[in-house]
Amino acid sequence: MEVLISAADIQRRVCEVGKEIARDHPDSTPLLVGVLNGCVLFVADLMKAIPIPHEIDFVSVSSYRLASQSNRSPALLKDLEKEIAGRDVVLVEDIVDSGHTLAFLRETLLARGPRRLRIATLLDKPDRREREVPLDYVGFAVPDRFVVGYGLDYAERYRHLPYVAALTEAEIESEGASRRVGTR
Ligand code: IMP
Ligand code: MG
Repeated sequence: MEVLISAADIQRRVCEVGKEIARDHPDSTPLLVGVLNGCVLFVADLMKAIPIPHEIDFVSVSSYRLASQSNRSPALLKDLEKEIAGRDVVLVEDIVDSGHTLAFLRETLLARGPRRLRIATLLDKPDRREREVPLDYVGFAVPDRFVVGYGLDYAERYRHLPYVAALTEAEIESEGASRRVGTR
């Protein structure tokens, strides 16, 4: 695989994003809502980089998809535990690809009347967008390649890598592009 973003570059950028989030919430305690499972490393590092009080919660979105293709019709597998009416919420996602997952989550959460809903994503793959979603904080833009690491998986592998890498076609083939049910 080819390393696209080094661990050091990720840490530097996550620190910047954390400061931006703090700056944008001078008078509230924002609720970070991580989208499981891909968000885990990003959320954990982001929390350490946000120098103001904040809380966390998580959602999980189901996906029927080929291992390297995004789903078009998401559904909520795990809902929030906290109420968000009147609160400042920051959705935290690993990557925005087609945009369907975030568009769905945004509509679902906006219907509950938060004071403000912002979106933070570590990675943005703009070439693949099918639904426009407003992104408030973007770590890095990536080319139209299948990427893994720093929370992102291919068939549940590679999430632990501290960097982001692109898989080669051969690596994608050899893993077996079997249809499966999983979480994002
Ligand atoms: P979207 O609904 O097409 O925007 O897809 C979002 C979800 O698909 C993300 O939360 C990821 O879990 C997954 N995904 C999209 N692209 C990639 C990738 O290149 N590597 C790993 N997961 C990806
Ligand atoms: Mg995933």
